Amino acid sequence: MSTFWSIWIIVITAGMMVGCLWLLFANARGVPGEVKDHTWDDDLHEYNNPLPRWWLNLFILTIIFAAGYLAFYPGLGNLGGRLGWTQSGELANKLDALTAKRRAAFAALADKDFPALAKDPSAQSLGHAVFLGNCAGCHGADAHGAIGFPNLTDKDWLYGGDPETLVKTIVEGRHGQMPAFGAVLQPDALQALVEFVPFWSDATLDAGRRERGMKQFAITCAACHGADGKGNPLLGAPNLTDNTWLYGGTSKKVRETIVNGRGGQMPAHATLLTPEEIRIVAAYVYGLSNAPASLVTP
Ligand code: HEC
Ligand code: HEC
Repeated sequence: MSTFWSIWIIVITAGMMVGCLWLLFANARGVPGEVKDHTWDDDLHEYNNPLPRWWLNLFILTIIFAAGYLAFYPGLGNLGGRLGWTQSGELANKLDALTAKRRAAFAALADKDFPALAKDPSAQSLGHAVFLGNCAGCHGADAHGAIGFPNLTDKDWLYGGDPETLVKTIVEGRHGQMPAFGAVLQPDALQALVEFVPFWSDATLDAGRRERGMKQFAITCAACHGADGKGNPLLGAPNLTDNTWLYGGTSKKVRETIVNGRGGQMPAHATLLTPEEIRIVAAYVYGLSNAPASLVTP
C-alpha cells in the first residue's frame, strides 16, 4: 500500500475511534428526567434521556479492545502491530506444516518398490490424490480414459506399463504421431486397409480381403505398427490386432485415422510434480492394473 493510502486509513480509523469517544462523553452528561432548557411551540419541552450506564461502558470497552487489537495486530494502514502477525505468514506456516507432513508420508514410502506400493493402502491413497489433481482431467477420475486418452486400468499399453516406462511417460510426456495418409494413398489402397484393419482379429474375415489388406499394410504401415500389426511401444504405435481402440475401431473411425493422422499428446510432468509425487502416482497407475482387485480404486 502506498504511504498516502496508509496514512489515509490511519487517520480515518483513529479519527473514528476518537469521534466515537467524544460522541459518547458529550451525550452522557446530565441527569435522567431533567428538563432541558429548550422549548418549542410555547410548551414542547425536551427531557434528558442519557444512555444507560452499562451500555455506555460496553461501548467504551469495545473501543479499548479495538485500540489494543490495533496495537498488536495489523489494521492501521501499513503499521504491522507488535506481534508481527500477517495473513500470508499464517498461510505460509500452515503450508509448511502440511508440506512437512506430506514429506514424512512420502519418506515412509521411499524404499518400497512398485509391487509393494501397489499393495500399500496409504501409498495408493496418496497416489490417487495426485492422480485426481493432475491426471483425471484427461484420463478420467476412474482412469478408464476416453477417446484419444488411453485407459490406464487395463494391461494394454502404448508405451509400456513397467515402473521405469511409467515414470518416463509421466516425466517426459508422450507424443504419438500417426502421419496423415489421405494425400498419399490411392483410393483402392485406402479401401483395402479400411476393409481389413478394423477386422484384423475377426477370424471370419474374407481371405481375399485379408490378403489385399495385409499386402497394403506391409507397404505403408508395418514400419511403425509391425508386420504382425501388434504395434511398437518405442513409437507408441498401438496394437491393431486386439479389440482395444484409442480412437475407435469402426471402419469410419479407422478411415478417419488413416486419412487425417493422429497426434495424441501426454504433457510432460517433470516441472509440474515433485519426483516423489511422480513416483507415487506412477505406482498408483501401476497398481490399477497389477494390484489385487480389492485395492483398485475407485
Ligand atoms: C492433457 C491431458 C493429459 C494429462 C493431464 C495427462 N495425460 Fe497421460 N496421456 C494423455 C494422452 C493423450 C496420452 C496418449 C499419448 C499418445 O497418444 O501417444 C497419455 C498417455 C499416458 C500414459 C501411457 C499409456 C500407455 O498406454 O502407454 C500414461 C501411463 C499416462 N498417460 C499417465 C498419466 C498420468 C499418471 C498423468 C498425471 C500425472 C497423466 N497421464 C496426465 C493425456 C494426458
Ligand atoms: C510413423 C509411424 C506410423 C505409421 C507409418 C502408421 N502409423 Fe498408425 N499410428 C502410429 C501411432 C504413433 C499411433 C498412435 C497415435 C496417437 O497416439 O495419437 C497410430 C495410430 C493408429 C491407429 C489408431 C489405433 C486406435 O487404437 O485407435 C490406427 C487405426 C492406425 N494407426 C492405422 C495405421 C495404418 C492403417 C497405417 C498405414 C496406412 C498406419 N497406421 C501407419 C504410427 C504410425
